[in-house]
Amino acid sequence: MQDLNPLAIELNEQIRDATPEVYKLLSELGKRVFLPKGILSQSAEANAKADRFNATRAVAFENDEIMQLNVSRQLVPELSPENIFGYAPILGNTELRQAWKTHHQKENPLLAETTFNLPIVTSGMTHGFSLLADLFVNKGDTLILPNKIWGNYRLIFQTKARADVQTYPFFNTEKRFDIIGFSKTLSNISADKLLILLNFPHNPTGYAVTRVEAQQITDAIVACADTGCSILVMVDDAYAGFWYDAEVMQESIFGPLVGCHPNVIPVKIDGATKEEYAWGLRVGFLTFALPDKAMQGIEGKLSGLIRAETSGAAQISQTLILEAMKAPGYTEQKQRNYEILKARALKVKQVTADARYANLWEVYPSHAGYFICLCLKSGNAEKARQTLLNESGIGTIALSETELRVAYSCLEETDIEPVFRLIAQVIESQKSR
Ligand SMILES: Cc1ncc(COP(=O)(O)O)c(C=O)c1O
Repeated sequence: MQDLNPLAIELNEQIRDATPEVYKLLSELGKRVFLPKGILSQSAEANAKADRFNATRAVAFENDEIMQLNVSRQLVPELSPENIFGYAPILGNTELRQAWKTHHQKENPLLAETTFNLPIVTSGMTHGFSLLADLFVNKGDTLILPNKIWGNYRLIFQTKARADVQTYPFFNTEKRFDIIGFSKTLSNISADKLLILLNFPHNPTGYAVTRVEAQQITDAIVACADTGCSILVMVDDAYAGFWYDAEVMQESIFGPLVGCHPNVIPVKIDGATKEEYAWGLRVGFLTFALPDKAMQGIEGKLSGLIRAETSGAAQISQTLILEAMKAPGYTEQKQRNYEILKARALKVKQVTADARYANLWEVYPSHAGYFICLCLKSGNAEKARQTLLNESGIGTIALSETELRVAYSCLEETDIEPVFRLIAQVIESQKSR
């Protein structure tokens, strides 16, 4: 085995001294990785001192401005060339990171009583998960997921990182979060390291937890941590903010998890993807709540991983998000979009619960996010999907033999009734075939 680089050893010691629980969670790659001193540190030194000629950066300059093609420059005339074409720092634009931290504080009152670190920018949330897999997952480590998930988790953690995925039923018989199933799965764990991934608002069902459920989940995790197990809890908050039901908790479960137990290390994964209506800009964030010294070590590790993978998220994407967050009208525009999505959510709830459809499907509880999921009482979801697509031009997602996911976020409110009428007709016609 290759010797550890002294810089990796330094980071490992920094993390181990500050939080041995985090050190215990690091993967082999996590222990090995570091950011080499070299071009980046020499450039940083030159940025501070080279006041005549700075010939360090691998970019091109002309008349003291980053060189550019006017054909692309003229498409974004209001942004400075550096903020469009220059490289962003590896961990992201500092002002954007600060703005996102302020956003967390505003949207998550429970975080007011805690301290958490400056978010790290990733190239979309998927990249954030992939970084966590690199940093924390060894082949065979146990990852606890519910039996209904966003499929990419399996690709990242099972196929790529080779975690041992164990599932619990997402719903109990009352169609609430199955806290007993979740707790049982945790109590069967005998390993001293565990990974858990939580996602509310939930893809694919739109389920969100109440404050009581959030506390029960936290308590179950704490009980597991009490046995000496170190636990990384990944909180996927892709759909944070899209809560439409007053009964559910209107903030992230990251809040209750922060500081709940020394062995529990929560990390919040979220992004501009859904929250800022910027799916393809690829701006995500990773937020930890660690002591400063441990966080410096983790930042060093993540800098090394990001440097080796993407070398940083796109500058123009970060600039667009930051400038939007500072712009007049930002809050009003977000509120407007939220109201539109909420109206669709309420309409979908009303339409799908219509007594006419009661013999066709059961609707999983949906309080938030983009989706509603129908559990068909007869027929086959994949066949229904194909018929809807080929005969009516309606696209849906078949999740299993009986489950059909509809992203109502993509439907105008007036289209909701006709779409579900057609879905009902197709399921009805399967019965008579
Ligand atoms: C639950 C969930 N998490 C994460 C993501 C991915 O976000 P990104 O596009 O930023 O990688 C999605 C995208 O659909 C999602 O549904």
